[in-house]
Amino acid sequence: MSIIPRRSNLGHHWNLNESTIFLNHGSFGACPSKVLDHQKKLRDELESDPINFLDVKAKKLWADAITTFSEFIKADKEGIVFVPNATSGVNTVLRSIDLEENDEILVLDHTYQACWNAVDFVTKKSGAKTVVVSLPFPVLSPDQIIESILKSVTKRTKLALIDTVTSPTGIRLPFEQIVRELQSRNIDVLLDAAHGPGIVPLELNKLQAAYVTGNAHKWLCTPKGSAFLYIREDKRDLIRPLSISHGASVDGNINEKIRLEFDWTGTQDPTPWLCIPKSIEFVGSLSDKGWEGVMKHNTDLAIKARNILLDALKTQKLCPDSMIVGLSAVLLPENDIPLTSVLEPDPFHTLLYEKYNIQVPVFAWPHHNRRYLRTASFLYNSIEEYQYLAEVLKKEI
Ligand SMILES: Cc1ncc(COP(=O)(O)O)c(C=O)c1O
Repeated sequence: MSIIPRRSNLGHHWNLNESTIFLNHGSFGACPSKVLDHQKKLRDELESDPINFLDVKAKKLWADAITTFSEFIKADKEGIVFVPNATSGVNTVLRSIDLEENDEILVLDHTYQACWNAVDFVTKKSGAKTVVVSLPFPVLSPDQIIESILKSVTKRTKLALIDTVTSPTGIRLPFEQIVRELQSRNIDVLLDAAHGPGIVPLELNKLQAAYVTGNAHKWLCTPKGSAFLYIREDKRDLIRPLSISHGASVDGNINEKIRLEFDWTGTQDPTPWLCIPKSIEFVGSLSDKGWEGVMKHNTDLAIKARNILLDALKTQKLCPDSMIVGLSAVLLPENDIPLTSVLEPDPFHTLLYEKYNIQVPVFAWPHHNRRYLRTASFLYNSIEEYQYLAEVLKKEI
């Protein structure tokens, strides 16, 4: 085995454990030390005068964070609210909409299981139906995906939960076309952009999806617990926060009500959201082409990583390069290891971590009856890290 590889020359901006080969930016992101320092400063201020901070200072910083973030994802700021994570964003929409018996909600057989469960929860309760679209996989072109989604549409299809980038398989879906096609058939799209800001360019005003939720704590590298929900103008009186709080009894027009209801849902630490402008500025400054450069760097590295692993594993390529952004998955050869549930660590993941200090997700994906290994690529990663993983895979598989 070659020596343990080092991170890239930008690695020192993150506090990641020196002895771990960290190839899982995709699960929870990773926050640079400069942004964590900023959060600590805000927290110290909060605790030095909780009342003034939460009642006065944080409100101004919150409004600034909403403005900066809305500009980043090109959305009108009146439609943007902060939520703790994408799971909450999905639940917020699903638990606000009215479903009738026999209505149908589309999910994909690559949909993140927690969000799929939320769909099942509301469809079961209302007598509606969850319809699972099986995507062709391996996939040869974006058109194949659009075609199979449209084939599953019926007169009863009310909503579709569509990903920007799929979680178990790391596929960048042609979500812009999917939104256009479905919404032209009167089907609202709830876009799961958990892997959204900072991994794919977003232009929400142009996209006009009914709802978009996504995380800042993954690809924008903010502290954990910072995510957003975008609600298109015509839907704003329908969607209510999961926690009904003070704002519900205060009068206002629809744009004021959204702020009143979503900006205060009970006492919590607002600093993860307040760090969004700092993250956008700091991580964007690490490439001379700003965020466009960051995303391109990560995409190029992810494609190289995927090719190195395919070369070692000799399994099928799962999608064309054009459908890869910062995440990429490979199929693991079949073996006798039983598939575990989503909440248990996969034994092969544990082996890679415990024996080689490689932190990389290995997913048993029961909907495909297969096991995938998914690498992420961020500015701190180096090509040598994937080469090392490939050597280990050759040895252990
Ligand atoms: C596609 C997708 N949706 C939703 C989520 C949930 O994100 P969170 O745990 O931040 O709510 C994830 C997390 O990995 C995801 O990959």
